[in-house]
Amino acid sequence: MTSEPSQQSEGIYGHYWDDYIDSWAQRNEAWGNKFEWPGDEWGSQRDWDFIWHHFFKPGDVEHWQRAVEIGPGSGKYTLRILGGSEAKVRAYDISAKYLEVCARRCQQPIADGRLSLHLLDINSPNQIVSEIEAAGWRRQVDAFVSIAAMVHVDLQYMIVYLLNAALSLKRGGKLVLTLADATSPYGFLQLLEDIRWAYPAQKDPRGSCKFEWLSPDLVRYVLGQLGFDVLLLENTVRDIRLVASLERPAAADALEKYIANVPPKGQA
Ligand SMILES: C[S@@+](CC[C@H](N)C(=O)[O-])C[C@H]1O[C@@H](n2cnc3c(N)ncnc32)[C@H](O)[C@@H]1O
Repeated sequence: MTSEPSQQSEGIYGHYWDDYIDSWAQRNEAWGNKFEWPGDEWGSQRDWDFIWHHFFKPGDVEHWQRAVEIGPGSGKYTLRILGGSEAKVRAYDISAKYLEVCARRCQQPIADGRLSLHLLDINSPNQIVSEIEAAGWRRQVDAFVSIAAMVHVDLQYMIVYLLNAALSLKRGGKLVLTLADATSPYGFLQLLEDIRWAYPAQKDPRGSCKFEWLSPDLVRYVLGQLGFDVLLLENTVRDIRLVASLERPAAADALEKYIANVPPKGQA
């Protein structure tokens, strides 16, 4: 892991997901210790297989050489990418504690030099593309992936990852993503059902796992502006599940100024 042990998570997302790890063992005990890793409690093997076969495979995962993942959690999909391709993976997360869990689960690929883990710095919106550049990967990345992570991230923050993806991918490189959709029947129902706990959760300075709702139109517009064409978009469940291809890298290049030279903390 490139992040030093002294590195700390910052912000509402970093703190929320660190707390999730801190309390996970206790919750797993209440569930009868039936889960091996944090994140095994979300969905089922069948759901994960479905995403793999219907989104990673059409995203051409077998041929990836270089991939970036945002929000790997314990590494459920990371291990699949590593097992299903020859790719090297750089995985970025906002939670130092989640990265520690991922490092424990993925010891072998890390030792083999196929996986590196990186803590996101919320003061540096161009962190990913800068590090990709330093690694000699710029415009050579085959895929940017984020599953079950961006469903919780506000678009004002997520745009940073999307722009970093558009600035790093090669032409034809793939974005494989899940996003929460308030315009699908299941999404709209969840929006209503979550009022009970999400409305009072806004007072918690350590954040929450509320969904950040989008819609296919909004997603298509934003990705189009960044130079992507949407190849596959399915929203029959709560989430939009999509594969997009970077077709117009110059569109993203013109927007790089928005993440470069961001003033240091407190001077915006
Ligand atoms: C629900 S878990 C999903 C993990 C994994 N992708 C999976 O499907 O099992 C969410 C992950 O996204 C990370 N995350 C949450 N907010 C984030 C943000 N703003 N930026 C980057 N990663 C974030 C969390 O720390 C956690 O690792």
